[in-house]
Amino acid sequence: MTSNTLTESDVLNALRNIEDPDLHQDIVSLGFVKNVRIDGGKVSFVIEMTTPACPVREKFQTEATRLVGQLPGVAAVDVQMTSQVRPSRAETKNDLIPGVRNVVPVASGKGGVGKSTVSANLAIALAGMGAKVGLMDADIYGPSIPMILGVKDGPEVIESDRRIIPPEAHGIKVISMGFFLEEGQAIIWRGPMLIQMIQQFLGDVQWGELDYLLVDLPPGTGDIQLSLCQKIPLTGAVIVSTPQDVALKVAQKAIDLFRTLKCPILGIIENMSHFICRHCGEREEVFGNGGARRAAADLDIPFLGEIPLATEIRTASDLGRPILLEDPESPYAKAFRRVAEDMAAQISVQNMSGAGPVKITF
Ligand SMILES: Nc1ncnc2c1ncn2[C@@H]1O[C@H](COP(=O)(O)OP(=O)(O)O)[C@@H](O)[C@H]1O
Ligand SMILES: [Mg+2]
Repeated sequence: MTSNTLTESDVLNALRNIEDPDLHQDIVSLGFVKNVRIDGGKVSFVIEMTTPACPVREKFQTEATRLVGQLPGVAAVDVQMTSQVRPSRAETKNDLIPGVRNVVPVASGKGGVGKSTVSANLAIALAGMGAKVGLMDADIYGPSIPMILGVKDGPEVIESDRRIIPPEAHGIKVISMGFFLEEGQAIIWRGPMLIQMIQQFLGDVQWGELDYLLVDLPPGTGDIQLSLCQKIPLTGAVIVSTPQDVALKVAQKAIDLFRTLKCPILGIIENMSHFICRHCGEREEVFGNGGARRAAADLDIPFLGEIPLATEIRTASDLGRPILLEDPESPYAKAFRRVAEDMAAQISVQNMSGAGPVKITF
């Protein structure tokens, strides 16, 4: 056979053998393969993934090169890997933040489980992989994101046309109530004020184009959660819990709330999961083993992975240099990157599946 008998469908048929592990379909049916060009024995094409945070990126590239390279008449294969984050499939129009493809609230049943630490590190992980990321600190009772990210300068507020330009830290756009409060100042929040704040954080903040906007929620189930779900379509919530039974029981309340509000749950992250001994490297299950994984299975929710309990994670946060930047090769940074990949995969699953998130109106 000679090279000029090779057709585009030969190439596509070969590539049908590559299946996306999360979406359970082949990459041709999913529409990932683009710009197939055949020039004599040279074949080139693009594989467009649903997220830059894709752990199988290199595997796909190698497989695609091999499969097409095996076709008769092919002398060289050039595979270009790109990504385009798919927007949430809500039917309701996202008027408040039209450039934001996915809004992902990070929630927990109670405070102190590491929600802010996890949100900040996941945001940095996604940005580091090439995604456009924003982080909205909606925890009005303890806004800690500016401290964790070491952001000193607040947003630029343009009063004349009600625009707030968020500062950028480590490649992510950040907004927090902490920027608007004097140190030590306390506010007694009432329902309408909270709704107003959410409205401004969504409508007035110039988020621009974002693949992912993570929202660090206050703990528990209150007005903020409710108004967020009412105002914009959410791709899905991520729940952070520690492994103890009590923590998981309160996490369940947060899960119930999102389910009631018809907001999909992307999965559970277990934080402070286990302790790795600095001297012997042995794993110590401080709070018992696998609690969140079991809870996720019981509740039929994806388990997004575990982050160890480590002094390094806390000190890095205290210094405003999250561990992902402070020590990117540490097992802790790797754990955050793995969870970020799993979360991005679940977001893709949500957006590529039939039923999109629902916007609730009361
Ligand atoms: N995996 C972890 N290992 C060690 N310390 C952690 C870890 N996650 C969070 N922390 C620390 O626990 C405290 C509470 O975390 P934070 O992210 O503020 O929780 P939340 O936002 O849920 O209230 C902080 O001092 C933080 O540095
Ligand atoms: Mg917090």
